[in-house]
Amino acid sequence: MGALTGKVAWVTGAGSGIGQAAAIALAKEGATIVLTGRRKEPLQDTAATIKKAGGKADVKPGDLMKAAAVTKIAKDIEKKYGRCDILVNNAGLNILDRQWAKLTPAGAEEVIDGNLSSAFYCTSAVLPMMRKQKDGVLIHTSSMAGRNISLLSGPAYTAAKHGVVAMSHTINMEECVNGIRSSVVLPGEVATPILDKRPVPITAAERKRMAQSEDVGDLIRYVAMVPAHIVINEVWITPTWNRGYVASLNRGKG
Ligand SMILES: NC(=O)c1ccc[n+]([C@@H]2O[C@H](COP(=O)([O-])OP(=O)(O)OC[C@H]3O[C@@H](n4cnc5c(N)ncnc54)[C@H](OP(=O)(O)O)[C@@H]3O)[C@@H](O)[C@H]2O)c1
Repeated sequence: MGALTGKVAWVTGAGSGIGQAAAIALAKEGATIVLTGRRKEPLQDTAATIKKAGGKADVKPGDLMKAAAVTKIAKDIEKKYGRCDILVNNAGLNILDRQWAKLTPAGAEEVIDGNLSSAFYCTSAVLPMMRKQKDGVLIHTSSMAGRNISLLSGPAYTAAKHGVVAMSHTINMEECVNGIRSSVVLPGEVATPILDKRPVPITAAERKRMAQSEDVGDLIRYVAMVPAHIVINEVWITPTWNRGYVASLNRGKG
């Protein structure tokens, strides 16, 4: 029996990268994992990995940019399990044409809806269940772009991820009286498929030096498991070989 046996965790963006690693890590602790993303196939692959290791997983695909789809998945979770103990609010995206010179209203909408509105929809959908339980942990994947303003991630992503950080802290301010805890994780560069959308391609050697999905998945597992009387409010996880630092060191030498 694991420390999370009997708990239900809803993990978004669970078909790849950080979400997949978090789902597998939480399942190993005994939680039943509900997996969401737009594409069904990668979710089924994650579910198969979990089940092969003796865990429990349930695939619920959907586009989290659509509030109605989010409400439906949360209702399905409530109907089937009667609870939601952990939300890993992790789905997110970025676009190639991200700088102001190329950014279109449609691009801004996609990035803001895909990172911020979706996170609000999932939070709103699980809070009623968590209030009833007087217990629940929400873990949101923001980014270093949620604290630091730089040109790398683009203005829409930077603004949206700042919004995710702010959102998480307000949940603690209102819901602490209901036993609900909200944590925001701010990764630096992690070697996942999202990097394929970078305007400047990243080599395999560079990806090797970055944080890996499993590193962040294990942090999420840890954050989900701290005792109920404490909350990890905000945590940064970055590669030791931080390409931003290395670039400024090299500039300094020049
Ligand atoms: N990798 C990094 O360097 C890094 C750094 C900081 C923060 N992050 C954040 O980490 C989170 C996870 O990203 P990742 O790095 O693991 O990249 P990833 O492998 O691309 O994962 C993102 C996942 O989100 C899902 N998703 C995107 N939009 C969605 C939507 N509208 N509805 C449902 N699911 C959606 C995608 O699946 P579908 O396409 O099938 O929907 C995908 O599985 C994101 O929030 C990202 O912004 C990543």
